[in-house]
Amino acid sequence: MIDRNVIHCGDAQQLIQAVPDESIDLVICDGPYGVSNNSWDHIGNVQGFNLLLIKRLSRKLKRGGSLYLFGKADCLDFIDYRPFLRLRSRIVWYQPSRLGQGRFGYTNNYDVICYFVKGDRPNAFNLDDIRVPQLVELGHRLRCERVPSVVNGPFGKTKFNEKGKNPGDVWGDIKQLTYKSKELVNRGALHTIQKPERLIERLVLASSSVGDIVLDPFAGVGTVAVVCKRHQRNFVAFEINPDFVGIGNRRLADVEREGPVLNFSGHKEDISQDYRTCSAGR
Ligand SMILES: C[S@@+](CC[C@H](N)C(=O)[O-])C[C@H]1O[C@@H](n2cnc3c(N)ncnc32)[C@H](O)[C@@H]1O
Repeated sequence: MIDRNVIHCGDAQQLIQAVPDESIDLVICDGPYGVSNNSWDHIGNVQGFNLLLIKRLSRKLKRGGSLYLFGKADCLDFIDYRPFLRLRSRIVWYQPSRLGQGRFGYTNNYDVICYFVKGDRPNAFNLDDIRVPQLVELGHRLRCERVPSVVNGPFGKTKFNEKGKNPGDVWGDIKQLTYKSKELVNRGALHTIQKPERLIERLVLASSSVGDIVLDPFAGVGTVAVVCKRHQRNFVAFEINPDFVGIGNRRLADVEREGPVLNFSGHKEDISQDYRTCSAGR
């Protein structure tokens, strides 16, 4: 058994074992990519590393639970994850204005976020909570929608929605943090560490519901924990660097002072139920 709503300081590979099987609704796994100079990022074979993680983490997911795995373009190459999880999307997180420019090849302008589900269908996909502005002009869209193939065809249910559109699988609307970002905890956390809250928010809101349990094995400075607290999700988080754990705890205390945001149905929910209760009855 492991406490929830705490960032545990230690090695994720060991701490994961203390998480009960099939107790987790969502995993957000933003660990080593195998590309930076950080000592924790020196892994020989990123694909082998990811396969082992997928295998271990899938055991912890409930049926219908989701897992997002961050990485570079090749992070799943030549590994067979299919016995464990179903890959639903490779989301491209597009960052056109990277400072580091390639000299001997093309500048890398994206990360991938692999979206997996345990089983055929996700328990949660809250599209209305993550809609983004429509790009087409309404008049044009309505004219297109009046043609018979749309009215009577398979796209009839995906008509113009005033609340916005599905964000799709290429996300260029969320920028990487820069030295000027208010959100940045310190300069050392830039690039390979801290992710924008908006990015994590999209994953949490889409793939979990109020009161669910989110596992973050590589918590960094606690962005997933912060977003979960703000949106009344429970979290179980691990981080090996005690300084980052300290920063994460300070950010959580700030959220505590702000108070939780109202959820989309307009009420605050009690998430203080015992972790054991959530994982019981499987
Ligand atoms: C890419 S960062 C995560 C950033 C996080 N999403 C955020 O926004 O703050 C990866 C983190 O994993 C941590 N880490 C690496 N290996 C670990 C391990 N075996 N156990 C726990 N944490 C680990 C690193 O210290 C680093 O903070």
